[in-house]
Amino acid sequence: MSYLFPNYQRKKLEFIKGSKNMLTDHNGKNYLDFTSGIGVMNLGYNDPDLNQVLADQTILLWHTPNLYQNHLQEQVAQKLAKGKDYVGYFCNSGAEANEAAIKLARKATGKRKIITFTNSFHGRTYGAMSATGQESIHAGFEPLVPDFIYLPFNQIEPLKEELDQDTAAVMLELIQGEGGVIPADEQWIQDVQSLCREFGALLIIDEIQTGIGRTGAFYAYEHYQIEPDIFTLAKGLGNGIPVGAMLGKSNLGDAFGQGSHGSTFGGNKLAMSVANKVIDRINQSAFLEDVQNKSEQLFSGLDQLAKRSSLIQAVRGKGLMIGIQLFDQNSLNQVSEQLEAEGLLTLKAGQTVLRLLPPLTITNEEMAKGLTILEKVLNKEKEHD
Ligand SMILES: Cc1ncc(COP(=O)(O)O)c(C=O)c1O
Repeated sequence: MSYLFPNYQRKKLEFIKGSKNMLTDHNGKNYLDFTSGIGVMNLGYNDPDLNQVLADQTILLWHTPNLYQNHLQEQVAQKLAKGKDYVGYFCNSGAEANEAAIKLARKATGKRKIITFTNSFHGRTYGAMSATGQESIHAGFEPLVPDFIYLPFNQIEPLKEELDQDTAAVMLELIQGEGGVIPADEQWIQDVQSLCREFGALLIIDEIQTGIGRTGAFYAYEHYQIEPDIFTLAKGLGNGIPVGAMLGKSNLGDAFGQGSHGSTFGGNKLAMSVANKVIDRINQSAFLEDVQNKSEQLFSGLDQLAKRSSLIQAVRGKGLMIGIQLFDQNSLNQVSEQLEAEGLLTLKAGQTVLRLLPPLTITNEEMAKGLTILEKVLNKEKEHD
């Protein structure tokens, strides 16, 4: 019997240590990790630099409440603003970052309606769940937070009909992650931003999965030449230390005045010391170019494989956020189990998408090894057809 709620579908595996881009299970078997702990371990496991920063801060001071100055929060927020007019709020997870964004948008605009998109995923707390456009995630938890409207992703006409003077915000992921690695069309995003500006609605970009270098730019929104009013971060920001952040244009600051919102642990010194280092490491043009080069290598291998494999319908994504769309759910389950047996860890997204989120530190040799395993498993399936 387990003393845990059965809310997660857990595999029998347990990992007991990690090094760089590899994990080791309780039997001593090594796995190449193409998951990054669901987009978290962007700098891999057991990174000496991050270990040192965390160890140093552990000895100095773990926690002080947000009743006092915190120069680390100031530093991290300044770095996250990247020279633009953003100010930050820190919390402990992606859902919390989105809660903050939703609350800020409503308070700052004095409006209630928030438009999000079908297949989106924004988290499991009430506000973030209500923003999530997936009925299966809402089921049994109604009533949801009111005034969320779900529209089809990548379609402008329904948005033109719905977005009006009463709209507080439009909230979206630039690549829907959990929903199946579905990238937003560039023109659509430009149009969404223009409509938001026209009607005074705020544009909230959820960068929780796409941010911190994952797509080959520090923020995915940089690929789209847009400037969100609010964006949210978590996952890769702490490389495994729980942290979330909401960044918003400084003119929204009045709406988040003293006492309006908060979190005991948010911006904790341990989390901030690590986030500070993570940003310094990833927000370097050489590092991000390297991610783009690796991405090209991986996509070119996968595109070749897709041509040969009758299981693969499409390959899509950006940077090291990659979805391999298979034809059916059964193949997805079989393929992911076989990959695991071969020593390659992957993720699922949507109903039929094999999702790859390798650490950004993955080496060329490891990518080649991953491709060989993918080839073996996906082609083996083809022979069984
Ligand atoms: C785009 C996006 N937003 C929000 C979340 C929720 O983050 P957390 O699980 O840290 O609450 C996730 C998690 O998968 C996500 O991918």
